[in-house]
Amino acid sequence: MNDDRDPAARVPTGMRQGLTSYGDTGFSLFLRKAFIKGAGLSESALERPVIGIASTGSAYNPCHGNAPQLIEALKRGVMLAGGLPMEFPTISLHESFAAPTSMVLRNLMSMDTEEMIRAQPMDAVVLVGGCDKTVPAQLMGAASAGKPAIQLITGSMLTGSHRGERVGACTDCRRWWARWRAREVEADEIAVVNEQLVPSVGTCSVMGTASTMACIAEALGMTVPGGASPPAVTAERMRVAERTGALAVQMARAGLGPDRILTAKAFENATRVLLAIGGSTNAVVHLAAIAGRAGFELDLRALDRMGTETPVLLDLKPSGAHYMEDFHAAGGMATLLRELRPLLHLDALTVTGRTLGEEIEAAGPGFAQDVVRPLARPIYPQGGIAVLQGNLAPGGAILKQSAASATLMEHEGRAVVFEDAADLATRIDDPALDVNADDILVLKRIGPKGAPGMPEAGAFPIPLELARAGVKDMVRISDGRMSGTAFGTIVLHVTPEAAVGGPLAHVRNGDRIRLSVARRELSLLVSDGELAARAAANPVREPSAERGYRKLFLQTVLQADRGVDFDFLVPGGAKQRLPRS
Ligand code: FES
Repeated sequence: MNDDRDPAARVPTGMRQGLTSYGDTGFSLFLRKAFIKGAGLSESALERPVIGIASTGSAYNPCHGNAPQLIEALKRGVMLAGGLPMEFPTISLHESFAAPTSMVLRNLMSMDTEEMIRAQPMDAVVLVGGCDKTVPAQLMGAASAGKPAIQLITGSMLTGSHRGERVGACTDCRRWWARWRAREVEADEIAVVNEQLVPSVGTCSVMGTASTMACIAEALGMTVPGGASPPAVTAERMRVAERTGALAVQMARAGLGPDRILTAKAFENATRVLLAIGGSTNAVVHLAAIAGRAGFELDLRALDRMGTETPVLLDLKPSGAHYMEDFHAAGGMATLLRELRPLLHLDALTVTGRTLGEEIEAAGPGFAQDVVRPLARPIYPQGGIAVLQGNLAPGGAILKQSAASATLMEHEGRAVVFEDAADLATRIDDPALDVNADDILVLKRIGPKGAPGMPEAGAFPIPLELARAGVKDMVRISDGRMSGTAFGTIVLHVTPEAAVGGPLAHVRNGDRIRLSVARRELSLLVSDGELAARAAANPVREPSAERGYRKLFLQTVLQADRGVDFDFLVPGGAKQRLPRS
């Protein structure tokens, strides 16, 4: 046995780091070892690099239903490489099991992740995540904690089949629900469809937020090469897990921390990938938050400029036709990155200790496939996301142009206003609602503070009468978000939000609104004087809460352009704005 009477005399690694405070470090280590030996571990095991495994398996999270198998493979990888795996639980968030919205809890999960990495002895950490908010929360926490960290994605679910038609969550969930609302399908059929939309564990099978964040994590250099796309239930996903465990040991020995990986170049690569995959609009918020933790500030105008020179190459729903398992069969991120190579920083470092360019080379040559288009023949000529400006959104708003209706991208219409989500629920299907197909639907108070938590209610339904008349899309504007699996001409993230007195708060029924995606314009055709008079007549009272996490949230949450992070979690000091242009 080593002489541990004075652990401070040795470099604090493994079990010797982060000792509990008893006023005697030797006793602290003695006690820690006594307890861990109570779990059956030997002295020899305790001498190895300790690899924490942040587990987010939960009965409430079917997107992480394969976590036990993944963690078994991870542990095998850690042990084969000579490390000691230490699994620990953190908060887990699933989109359909977190009320009022998982976004309220993303920052709490990031704090949980950061503090558990800090508090417990580990030389590196593996972050097991997948469902929408989990990967951003884990990357935010890991960026703040500063320990060597590697992301393991749980992987996408399989697709199902309904009467010969392929279906998958959740673009097809929305499409079939819209058909049900429009009375195009009967009750027995919609019940059968419900059983086919999610045919296995894993994350949503289209380019929703989870798939987008998986691709972004790989583009950031935070996963093993090829770690984004293997479906959840495949042997390849298990091998990715085993390799992730081995790499975590390598990172621990090399001291390869997130400060060397989450650089300006890595974030620019990730932003480029977000645009090229027609990724979820939610990822703009999450990227801003992760970048914020690493000391950067996302510049929405520069992101838009990057979009004009970054075509959408990935033919996946909701922008295209295919599903995640098709992307994987087409070579996954290696195929995409190979095409994007002229636009990437190839010298950005990854968790392997090699550069992104070296990893693209190592993936070998491409092959014939029809899921990732060549740069010269894109699915959409510009990046999937357009950033809008104007007097209705002084801090910006975004629109997923690759999933919008071409006929509505240049549109002026009469505002039909809903004051909040409850007002929408009460009136949207009211036959007496004065609304026409070329009106613009406006929903207020679903922003970061308004709802709160900026729920994915921005893709709210077409009024029932119009839906039954065959109207499939209308311009919809809100300060909320929408699911990455949704589609339509939907303006989101209007900043500042209505709940803090942004101009959106003062839109009235009958006002004219102009949307011009070509000019990146979102204008309320009301004079500044009239808007100021409305603001003076109806001063906004910001939402508040009496106690607990809700109080913390409402007092400290930032707006969408700052990633909806808490102000006290973002490091102070000057920020470099990204992407640089
Ligand atoms: Fe978890 Fe879609 S609900 S990824």
